[in-house]
Amino acid sequence: MRKILALLTALALLPLSGALADTLTADASVTTAEMSDTLYGLFFEDINHAADGGLYAELLNNRSFEYEDILNPRPSDHFTGWLFGMTAGAKGRTTLMTEGGLNENNPTYIRVTGEAGEYRFANVGYSNGGLTGGVTIEADTTYKSFVYLRSAGYEGEVRVALTTRVGEELAEPVLITPTEEWQRYDMTFASTRQADAILSFTLLGTGELDIDMASLMPADAFGSDWPGGGLRTDLVEALMELHPRFLRFPGGCVAEGSYTWDNAYNWKDTLGPVEQRKENFNTWGYMQSYGLGYYEYFCLAEALGAQPLPVVHSGVLCQARSPRESSMTIAEVEAYAQDILDLIEFATGDTATEWGALRAEMGHPEPFDLRYVAIGNENWDMEYFARFRVLNNIVKEAHPEITTIVAAGPVAEGALIQNSWRTIRAQFADSVVDEHYYMDSAWFLDNTTRYDRYPRTTGVFLGEYAAHEPAVGGRRPNNLYAALCEAAYLTGIERNSDVVRMACYAPLMARDGMYQWSPDLIWFNARQVLRTPSYYVQQMFAETLGDFVVESSLDTDSDRLYQVVTRTDSQLYIKLVNVSENVEEITLSLLNVPDGIAAFRQLSGDKKATNTFSSELVAPVSGECEIAQGVAELSLPAYSVTILTVALED
Ligand code: AHR
Repeated sequence: MRKILALLTALALLPLSGALADTLTADASVTTAEMSDTLYGLFFEDINHAADGGLYAELLNNRSFEYEDILNPRPSDHFTGWLFGMTAGAKGRTTLMTEGGLNENNPTYIRVTGEAGEYRFANVGYSNGGLTGGVTIEADTTYKSFVYLRSAGYEGEVRVALTTRVGEELAEPVLITPTEEWQRYDMTFASTRQADAILSFTLLGTGELDIDMASLMPADAFGSDWPGGGLRTDLVEALMELHPRFLRFPGGCVAEGSYTWDNAYNWKDTLGPVEQRKENFNTWGYMQSYGLGYYEYFCLAEALGAQPLPVVHSGVLCQARSPRESSMTIAEVEAYAQDILDLIEFATGDTATEWGALRAEMGHPEPFDLRYVAIGNENWDMEYFARFRVLNNIVKEAHPEITTIVAAGPVAEGALIQNSWRTIRAQFADSVVDEHYYMDSAWFLDNTTRYDRYPRTTGVFLGEYAAHEPAVGGRRPNNLYAALCEAAYLTGIERNSDVVRMACYAPLMARDGMYQWSPDLIWFNARQVLRTPSYYVQQMFAETLGDFVVESSLDTDSDRLYQVVTRTDSQLYIKLVNVSENVEEITLSLLNVPDGIAAFRQLSGDKKATNTFSSELVAPVSGECEIAQGVAELSLPAYSVTILTVALED
């Protein structure tokens, strides 16, 4: 009889829908840990054409003919993005020149000659090998443009025009009469209609003409008054909507270079007027114009309301790719330390200092709010730590106000990271430790308690992570399931935010059809931005960042339900992640919470669902629920994340 009664009671507790019942209990007045106010941020690297061909608003590809694969150089590299002799039958000659260029950082240019009125050449933008796409032009938009020309015996005019591939004009063309010295010619094009265009140059005169450094950008690009010329507004908006608290840049492997020191990132090459920046072939197999350079990164961080977090190399090239004998000697590292001190001076120095003066000259007399410098990207072992020690000591001695970030290697588990931590705890415990790991989705679910076990003495920066699903057609999908596994993991990160000071998904951006890595948080093409399910998870968590973790407990039969409760002075945030195929009906039992209506945002769908440029299947929806006498009922759909915001009394 007792058994029957127990069964009846259990059946009575089951909701009619057949969904499962859970209870979350929390007392808003009991907090367990202080949270980091910089927990969520961005990791920006020029991988997948995230900068050139992406965030950087320059529409021309290889604008100054410097393109060169430094590992396998070929003269034809320098013609990337350009078409010469475009009029059928028109005679002409194109010569690649390396003497007498614009300046020593920008030595390569093109000398052309051809039949007057016939010979035409053009930049075709980022166009997948020159076959499709082009210079992306919108209707009724003003474009700022410039080009450097020089007459080498050329007599007559050059006609610069924004046209379709077959020559239909999209704006009033400009006529230029070049002189015998290199001269910059500024132009404006007001487009009449949308098109995948080209910027073409037609020789109306005769003789030899030199051309270098052409540029075309929307006049209203974000940051158009920065020396780099500006950023793609729609992509900046996507970054802003993530509410980032820090911006890690410029890499990644890009920051340290791979295979050879020739492609190591030298921040000083990225400053000043764009025509004086020394371009570089990056780790990911394409040229960086550095139009998005260090100054622009600092400005972007400031515009986003984020702490700038530069990553400099440690005297060791990307360890996953490069020969060990390539590392700098300790003596070389000691000399190189000045570069890092100069960087700090550039960001924060008085305008009377050499580098502070350059910052002011570039447009920002006020110092940037630099608090962190990461020394090394994804390094490990004694070779790295010996070099880190030298650089760290020099930086700390000169700038005790700067927190350095030390790398712990590229893996989540095993001897490598354990050894890194052993060394770091013994020698660099006051630095923040940069962990990187890309793991399969299941790992994230199984490791939500990872940081529960960490000693509270040394801070962690989870500088790169993402849940990886099996690749489909060579590309790992950004599906909802991966995003939910990341969300579940973030509940553990929030609970341990006294240890995990910062965390950022990686990589941040990828241009469709021109990528080297998947998954990525944001995909884009020439005109569209695609926010992935992982993007929305990052956004939802970042916009509800608490100051304190609130004590909470979950009574559930589900082994796939994750939660964290946090608060500020005025809001209580309840985050619930259901990574199962069951709907979970949950009762919230809350103490010290006023009655009223609470709002929630919820992301749910098919676990395999992804967003595409033509349809956004996974996006947050809003809802409300009533709290009466500290109790609320919420339905958590299968495969969902729900974040409830409860207003607390002042
Ligand atoms: O995020 C892509 C790459 O992954 C980074 O450049 C590197 O740090 C890591 O190996």
